[in-house]
Amino acid sequence: MTDFSMLGLNPALLAALERTGKDVPTPIQARGIPPLMEGRDLMGLAQTGTGKTLAFGLPILHRLAGQGKPAPKTARALILAPTRELVQQIAEALTQLSHGTPTAITTVVGGASINRQIDRLVRGTDVLVATPGRLIDLLERGSVSLAKVQMLVLDEADQMLDLGFIHALRKIARYLPAERQTMLFSATMPKDMSEIADAYLDRPVRVQVATPGKAADKITQAVHFAPQGDKAAVLREYLSQHPDELALVFGRTKHGSEKLSKLLASWGFSVGSIHGNKSQGQRERTLAAFRAGETKVLVATDVAARGLDIPLVAHVYNYELPNVPENYVHRIGRTARAGREGRAVALCAPAEMADLRAIEKLMNIKIEVIGGDVWPEIMAEAARAKARAATGQNRGQRPGGAKAGGGKPGGAKGAGGGRPGGGKPGGKPGAGAADAAKPRKPRVHPALAEAMAAERPKRPKRFSQKPARRSDG
Ligand SMILES: Nc1ncnc2c1ncn2[C@@H]1O[C@H](COP(=O)(O)OP(=O)(O)OP(=O)(O)O)[C@@H](O)[C@H]1O
Ligand SMILES: [Mg+2]
Repeated sequence: MTDFSMLGLNPALLAALERTGKDVPTPIQARGIPPLMEGRDLMGLAQTGTGKTLAFGLPILHRLAGQGKPAPKTARALILAPTRELVQQIAEALTQLSHGTPTAITTVVGGASINRQIDRLVRGTDVLVATPGRLIDLLERGSVSLAKVQMLVLDEADQMLDLGFIHALRKIARYLPAERQTMLFSATMPKDMSEIADAYLDRPVRVQVATPGKAADKITQAVHFAPQGDKAAVLREYLSQHPDELALVFGRTKHGSEKLSKLLASWGFSVGSIHGNKSQGQRERTLAAFRAGETKVLVATDVAARGLDIPLVAHVYNYELPNVPENYVHRIGRTARAGREGRAVALCAPAEMADLRAIEKLMNIKIEVIGGDVWPEIMAEAARAKARAATGQNRGQRPGGAKAGGGKPGGAKGAGGGRPGGGKPGGKPGAGAADAAKPRKPRVHPALAEAMAAERPKRPKRFSQKPARRSDG
């Protein structure tokens, strides 16, 4: 068995690992760190909760040690992630490991004071962890340069390459040097996304610990069939069975999640909610209370589906099924972290049968039925048609168009040209798109749209501008 000392990491990092109780590298760490230490590009695919953060974090911190002070307004490593909470969490994990060393780690996220971020960036930073929208804003103001970036990480890479983010990502890529090490990590990687990913990588090593889309090992999954109108009562039953354990409940829309959270509160549950309609301050306070176990139930949209590491979460409820099957894998992956056990129950209404089947197909499993009766096909089809008519969208389909990302992004590694972004860059990404009650075009998945709306710079028309010129920062 590999242990951390065999990976060639510097003594300060080994001491930090010991201090934080990490003795043995996880498989993605044992297999991913060696090629990364050699400077190779890498696509790392491993199940949720299996230590991908340190798989890229350790080689980055190792390489940055002893490089001296960064130049003003520069960064040496850039880590991009889809949500503000995930950015903060990654930065905290790296800060823990670099404690007592001069390595500077800085976060850049929307919803927080940009002036403070500008002030902080003046000094330069070793590691910049960012959500794309705010980073673009700072790049366009000239507050930070990416010209000195040696390492780039896309965490939740398939989401970062999907329609909601690809345009922003391509914009950022134009500021990055061609000579760099690029690392992509996720628990899922649809094939079309994998092709786009290749454009960002240079002769990459592919480390695949499990088939992409496989759930973490110790999640017990189940489905309970219930009409939409009965779901709240069913959920109440389940939540009441484990009053002292943390439960994360996923809803599809901001409005619906808020309503559900209020209903649960009125029933006496200790509950909070996180979604794109909450201020960043509220989001942070709610998450902190949940992490600490002070709030037992958290109702969230897909803004909380990816990456969040809250070890105490014992139950995940899919109050509504996601219409992108990969998101199910990420949602249920909020439990059973780092070898723990966890339980995931999906509540499935007739209109969601196709979503359920898509999830089962992706994961190549049959989810055990623990309540209600499987909806007859004819009922499911009728409900689906009704839902389609009501929302004007094609549920159950991957919001395709992924091909739009083509072209080789980022400096000389690719031509850098190509059409910017997928979908309509000038459109209003995510404006109310997560609200199923409103008709919308099926261009951007609601979750992506929501995350993007949260990160949208103040002047969205910038996104509609043609890339004026290539810039290396
Ligand atoms: N080698 C290790 N030994 C013990 N615990 C570890 C080790 N590496 C990471 N962990 C812990 O495992 C948990 C999950 O790690 P992490 O958040 O990096 O998972 P992930 O693979 O990125 O999951 P996701 O796909 O959900 O983003 C964290 O609490 C982390 O501290
Ligand atoms: Mg992660």
